Amino acid sequence: MSANASSAPLRAILFDVFGTLLDVHSVEARAEQLFPGQGRRLSQLWRDKQLEYTRLRALGGRYAPFTQVTEEALLYAGEALGLDMDGAARGLLMHEYTRLAAFADVVPALRRLQDGGVTLGVLSNGDPGLLEDALHGAGIGEYFDLVLSADAVHAYKVAPAVYELGPRSLRHPAGEILFVSSNGWDAVGAQWYGYRAFWVNRNGAPAERLGQEVARGASLADAATYYFAEGGR
Ligand code: LAC
Repeated sequence: MSANASSAPLRAILFDVFGTLLDVHSVEARAEQLFPGQGRRLSQLWRDKQLEYTRLRALGGRYAPFTQVTEEALLYAGEALGLDMDGAARGLLMHEYTRLAAFADVVPALRRLQDGGVTLGVLSNGDPGLLEDALHGAGIGEYFDLVLSADAVHAYKVAPAVYELGPRSLRHPAGEILFVSSNGWDAVGAQWYGYRAFWVNRNGAPAERLGQEVARGASLADAATYYFAEGGR
């Protein structure tokens, strides 16, 4: 894949969704209510297992939609923590995934970019139904000109086929698209593919040791500022 074409103008932004625009740990409150004292551990193990399953399925050529992967990860996490999770509890937790909260910095940044006339989209592992529900559930669906799902190619990030959806749909080379993610590995994967990437590191996490430097900031506001500073239009 091409290296960063840092002199090329930026023409659009694609955002990751889960963990970047929407807080996947919004499920913690419900988890804590159902399983007192275990909410945080359940939320974390659920998310870790969900990502692990996406990678295993992509690597092994065993694609299943993100909603199914998410539910299977929840079943695993519940059993691993010894929780007595019946169908009703599972249903409640899965429902939480369609009503995750947007991080506080999301709407102001999207407004600023939209006011600046920037083409905005998302590129997510989420399947189209989940993306529709989750983006509208958080009240941010209206900001996006395009919603791209890994489901279109039956793979998961960081497979190049997933990142390829961006340039293919936007009809701009990846080097003219800014890819924004709070998942450090996703920002790296996008830049490996050829995007300009920006890592929103809200929690001061260490940078991934994957041999790829990525521009970074502490909030989505920083990502918007970066886009305009880099000559985006
Ligand atoms: C997504 C994953 C990274 O939204 O959560 O693609």
